[in-house]
Amino acid sequence: MELLDGQLVSRKIKDTLRLQVAQLTTEGKKVPHLAAVLVGNNGASETYVGAKVKACAEIGYKSTLIRLEDTISENKLLNIIEDLNNDVDVDGILVQLPVPKHISDEKIINAIHPSKDVDGFHPINIGKLVQGQPTFISATPHGVLLMLEHYKIDTKGKHAVVVGRSNIVGRPMSILLSSNTNTGNCTVTICHSHTRNLKELCLQADIIVAALGRAEFVTADMVKEGAIIIDVGITRVPDASKKSGFALKGDVKFDEVAPRCSYITPVPGGVGPMTIAALMKNTFMACEERNGKVLFD
Ligand code: GUN
Repeated sequence: MELLDGQLVSRKIKDTLRLQVAQLTTEGKKVPHLAAVLVGNNGASETYVGAKVKACAEIGYKSTLIRLEDTISENKLLNIIEDLNNDVDVDGILVQLPVPKHISDEKIINAIHPSKDVDGFHPINIGKLVQGQPTFISATPHGVLLMLEHYKIDTKGKHAVVVGRSNIVGRPMSILLSSNTNTGNCTVTICHSHTRNLKELCLQADIIVAALGRAEFVTADMVKEGAIIIDVGITRVPDASKKSGFALKGDVKFDEVAPRCSYITPVPGGVGPMTIAALMKNTFMACEERNGKVLFD
């Protein structure tokens, strides 16, 4: 069994981006600028956004963090997004999800200009992704692909079972794994809460992507010997022995599953850092486009 080390791979990607940013500065060009919007004070969201802003600083990007009260109206938030869309200095915009219940996440996602949608959530970008056109790939699935690429994992012809059908992970992941690309060409099964024979399907999987958000859901009896396990879940589980009062658990019961598989991502330190690396890559591409390089059309 080999650990898929998200810390290591993400550091490599960020190191490359740092050199590319230095090159932009040498050429007198602007550095990438990410604007992150955080509504309310959800602890996990604070951590994720904090890590994104920190990554910008490490690489040499400019970042702006906009913190908003959880009582902000949907209209006010839409106006803030419009201002960021019109701000010529801002290359990428992300609104950390979830947003409070009185705000429609669909409206928020649709309001971000597709050229600044570094999360890759906008329907135009998802549509391009489905058609295999170059675009921003949603950060978490993009991070998973970068991980597979780094470890030279051959996906061609493999049976991938994606557990979870969310718009931000499961659905784009299933499309990318089935696409005609180096990290695709899988036969994909997508499972969800109504799937009847989940265990049997998982047992047939060469690759399992667990993205349902239920701590330790995937157990050893669901995993074929030699399978590749990608654990996207990260749930805070109460743990009195921790200073924070919680432990972070993936969707996979790591200790019992790890001995059965060929590769596995740990939690934390697996997919999480890769999501950030992918977001940084997307932000760089957004900036390049704005500098006049045509990457997408
Ligand atoms: N919430 C959970 N994952 C993500 C993500 O990748 N981007 C944003 N904006 N919100 C999230």
